[in-house]
Amino acid sequence: MLQDEAVHPADMPSADTPDPSSMRAHYRAEGIAEHDLAASPYDQFSRWFKDAAAAGLHEPNAMVVSTADAAGRPSSRTVLLKAFDERGFVFFTNYTSRKGRELAENPHLSLLFPWHPLARQVIVTGTAERIGRDETAAYFRTRPHGSQLGAWASEQSAPIASRDELERAYEELAARYPEGEQVPAPPHWGGYRVTPDAIEFWQGRLNRLHDRLRYVREGAPEAGQWRVERLAP
Ligand SMILES: Cc1cc2nc3c(=O)[nH]c(=O)nc-3n(C[C@H](O)[C@H](O)[C@H](O)COP(=O)(O)O)c2cc1C
Repeated sequence: MLQDEAVHPADMPSADTPDPSSMRAHYRAEGIAEHDLAASPYDQFSRWFKDAAAAGLHEPNAMVVSTADAAGRPSSRTVLLKAFDERGFVFFTNYTSRKGRELAENPHLSLLFPWHPLARQVIVTGTAERIGRDETAAYFRTRPHGSQLGAWASEQSAPIASRDELERAYEELAARYPEGEQVPAPPHWGGYRVTPDAIEFWQGRLNRLHDRLRYVREGAPEAGQWRVERLAP
């Protein structure tokens, strides 16, 4: 809240504010069994990602990325997944942002895909590493011109004086790089690849007897060896 903004009584929860304690969804009965799982968690992720897209979920590639600083203080935010394969999960951001600074101190993170309409979530835990500049540049070229300028204009996560300041920075860049002109990828912006050490597939079921199946990596990432364990819901 801004300092000069008072809390007006009308803003406080009132009779027409939904009561979260009475909100209860009944989850689908079909579950997921060990014998249904793909041998590789990437193939399993690919199946569920396809289901999420086919179900018409809005931005099924939106995931909650949680990081922590060197002291273990956590922070979370939504980020878009831009690629995945046997090497891991890739997203793009500003390297000097809060998440970028935290990942520089502590590469451990988690990714959570909240596919609520399917009563599913996938949780990836692992470590993040910056991808190569060539890979970043190749992706940056595919972004719309306006998003390319936005990546330059915004010192992500830093306090700014006003919206005007941001828009002025954008306009200056737009004058320097008119539409159609090649915009280079900013050096402070790029991708991270998350190498998973575990991937959990959660399927909501009746009576809170949900299925939770977790692939746990055994050995080096290149070995592609995983064991699967079932977790209590
Ligand atoms: C649906 C959605 C998608 C987003 N995608 C990205 C993204 O791909 N990369 C990114 O840096 N921020 C993305 N953001 C903004 C982040 O949530 C966040 O505000 C920003 O990265 C700064 O986070 P930080 O200060 O914790 O580093 C997205 C936000 C939403 C709601």
